[in-house]
Amino acid sequence: MAESMKGLKRTHRCGELSAANAGENVTVMGWVQKQRNKGGLIFVDLRDRAGILQVVFEEKDCGEENFTKAEKLRSEFVVAVTGRVERRAGAEAKNAVNENMATGEIEVRAEQLRILSEAETPPFPIESDSRTKEELRLKYRYLDLRRPDLQEKLMLRSRMSSAVHAFLKEEGFWEIETPILNKSTPEGARDYLVPSRIHPGSFYALPQSPQIFKQLLMCSGYDRYFQIARCFRDEDLRADRQPEFTQIDLEMSFVDMEDVIDVTERMVAKVCEEAIGLKVELPIKRMTWNEAMNRFGSDKPDTRFGMELVDVSKTVEGCGFGVFTGALEAGGSVRGINVKGQAQMPRKKIDALVEFAKGYGVKGLAYLAVQSDGSYKSSFSKFMTEEELKGLVDAMGGEPGDLLLFAADKLKLVWSVLGALRVELAKQLEMLDENVYNFLWVTEFPQFEWSDEEERFVAMHHPFTMPMEEDLDLLESDPGKVRAKAYDIVVNGMELGGGSVRIFQSDVQERMFEALGFSREKAYEQFGFLLDAFKYGVPPHGGLAIGLERFVMQLAKTDNIREVIAFPKVKDASCLMSEAPGTVDEKQLEELHLRVTE
Ligand code: AMO
Ligand code: AMP
Repeated sequence: MAESMKGLKRTHRCGELSAANAGENVTVMGWVQKQRNKGGLIFVDLRDRAGILQVVFEEKDCGEENFTKAEKLRSEFVVAVTGRVERRAGAEAKNAVNENMATGEIEVRAEQLRILSEAETPPFPIESDSRTKEELRLKYRYLDLRRPDLQEKLMLRSRMSSAVHAFLKEEGFWEIETPILNKSTPEGARDYLVPSRIHPGSFYALPQSPQIFKQLLMCSGYDRYFQIARCFRDEDLRADRQPEFTQIDLEMSFVDMEDVIDVTERMVAKVCEEAIGLKVELPIKRMTWNEAMNRFGSDKPDTRFGMELVDVSKTVEGCGFGVFTGALEAGGSVRGINVKGQAQMPRKKIDALVEFAKGYGVKGLAYLAVQSDGSYKSSFSKFMTEEELKGLVDAMGGEPGDLLLFAADKLKLVWSVLGALRVELAKQLEMLDENVYNFLWVTEFPQFEWSDEEERFVAMHHPFTMPMEEDLDLLESDPGKVRAKAYDIVVNGMELGGGSVRIFQSDVQERMFEALGFSREKAYEQFGFLLDAFKYGVPPHGGLAIGLERFVMQLAKTDNIREVIAFPKVKDASCLMSEAPGTVDEKQLEELHLRVTE
């Protein structure tokens, strides 16, 4: 039967004890990691969130009753032990002194034992670097969360949040909460909806971000706002996306882009330093969106390695290879990357790269290997003259031993294929140093992106983003050319956060809605309160949001977002533990005026 805490007080966490505590009487509590019965001696590894401690039971110290209890201990029992801290000695110590344990030099000689809770055998061992399938671990997440490596990541997350709070408060930001039950707005990702009981047929939407509210707070004179804000987006999940996630969200008044960038990068540097002792060099480098796309084929370039894109459209103009000239004639582009020293890559591997590229929508990938004797092995050399080939190799900076890969298609597609390919190759060729953090600001994003699906321009960031002053005149005449005062902070190929300077003039905002194909009525229906607010005196303002999980992923060096969330969802947006989402009673549906159709 489980005993109680009556009269007991914990003096230390298991992992906090060290040789400095030798000789002290302590009371520790935790979970039994392992019990080893050596006859007259019973060794128990006791675990709590601070670490693992060795406890020794011997009848002469703890008496028969406690010794008998200790014999019954099994993994994951919860116990309290009172005893004396001693340096490890004797034969057992020789093989037990454990460098992996912070408490490796000591043990507690138990005098008293209370079994606070018994435990069934867990469905998988509780240990770091678990090899148990993730699905099983997520089903028993409360057990998975006992594993030290997960506890470390969540502790890191907590430390990072604390550092954010401390920094922003110091900088004069007020922490203000904004509502979760909101009105649906059409831009952005799909909303999660909540039916209203009181208003039949009406729905609240969960916030995709606090965007409009933080702008209203600026209208209300709050000057500097921040919130560690939960956001909800019903979008397809990827390794770095969850349906609910957390933003470090901030907004500032009377500022331009430079001010937001300055505060943000000092915050990022402070958090990195406090959380993992990482020094971030300030100011963080910057690159325009155009340069990022042309050099890296990505608006979140990983700049830890080269393999940059080279535009060879001019070089291959009029050559004999129809794939290249066809793409150019259709208004597209031909670009390549030089994979240094990989000319010997086996055909099978190259074929796999071609398949990888096709996954991005191109019809193929052309390759040319410069052999060590200077001759070429290529999928298209038969279509080109010796001279044309040499020109191409030169344009690519190709030397003997290099593998050149080319994509020919619409420029957007060529960027995305080669951008993804260079990262994939860097992974395969182990060119990525996880101890290097290349932070980067990407600026001058296009204001709009053409949507083939909707046949209109959509906002690349959001409809409240200010165009660059010098491009304002293009809003009506050439929207595709308008650049925005929007900026993303990127690290090692991941978008960490993004923001913009906002439109604060109602006339510009109205022109923006027009460019986005919103009628005046529709804009008013959706954002009327914001447009109205702008009529009553609004400060120039701007801000940004950093994805907290992505930030933690980077500092924890994991590429799985679920590792930095206590209770995450899986790919199909369900929770394997609680089995959310679930069906509800007919009565609940009735109250909400809902009927389910298949
Ligand atoms: P944005 O949509 O770029 O900007 O989001 C900001 C940051 O939030 C993180 N993020 C996500 N993290 C995990 N799972 C997701 N599904 C997910 N979606 C976004 C990313 C991203 O960079 N209101 C604006 C910010 C502003 O303009 O101030 C906004 O939400 O790290
Ligand atoms: P084909 O003439 O279609 O057999 O193609 C010849 C070579 O060009 C093959 O290696 C194809 O993989 C490659 N290729 C096909 N389409 C493209 C493209 N859009 N961009 C680059 N290479 C391509």
